[in-house]
Amino acid sequence: MSTVNDISSVNPDLNSEVMSKVDDIIEHYKNMPGCLIPVLEDSQRVVGYLPVELQEYISEAINIPESTIYGVVTFYSYFTMIPKGRHTIKVCMGTACYVKGIGEVLNRLESQLKLKVGGTTDDRRFSLEAVRCLGACGLAPVVVIDSDTHGGVSPDKLENILSQYQ
Ligand code: FES
Repeated sequence: MSTVNDISSVNPDLNSEVMSKVDDIIEHYKNMPGCLIPVLEDSQRVVGYLPVELQEYISEAINIPESTIYGVVTFYSYFTMIPKGRHTIKVCMGTACYVKGIGEVLNRLESQLKLKVGGTTDDRRFSLEAVRCLGACGLAPVVVIDSDTHGGVSPDKLENILSQYQ
């Protein structure tokens, strides 16, 4: 079986502290039928994503083929193999925001942060998501960063807004 030292040298996100939590999760579920999904859910909650090295580790630990685990991870949109940034930017693509120019805001975000929707910046500062109506249409166009709602956003306001999140 892969050891924690092996895995953390390949992927520093899987350090001994994180992997001890993953081991607890595996221990908790491993003898239950249908344990794979809860193991993946809880592991993603701890690690933030499900890298291939972690899938291999789980595969050995619960004796389920890697191909099966990979199939589940890629089938359910809830699971991700992409690391998340420290801050998540949600750009509202609902009708009201669209009409008020969210497209230009999104374009500026993508070029300024050098990433596409669904991606994370190389320094892991931001992840970028496009979402449906956030229920704050009166503030359109709307961008939510972590739990903060920013209304009336324009491309030129972005720099100031982003500077609040390090
Ligand atoms: S359309 Fe953007 S908040 Fe409703």
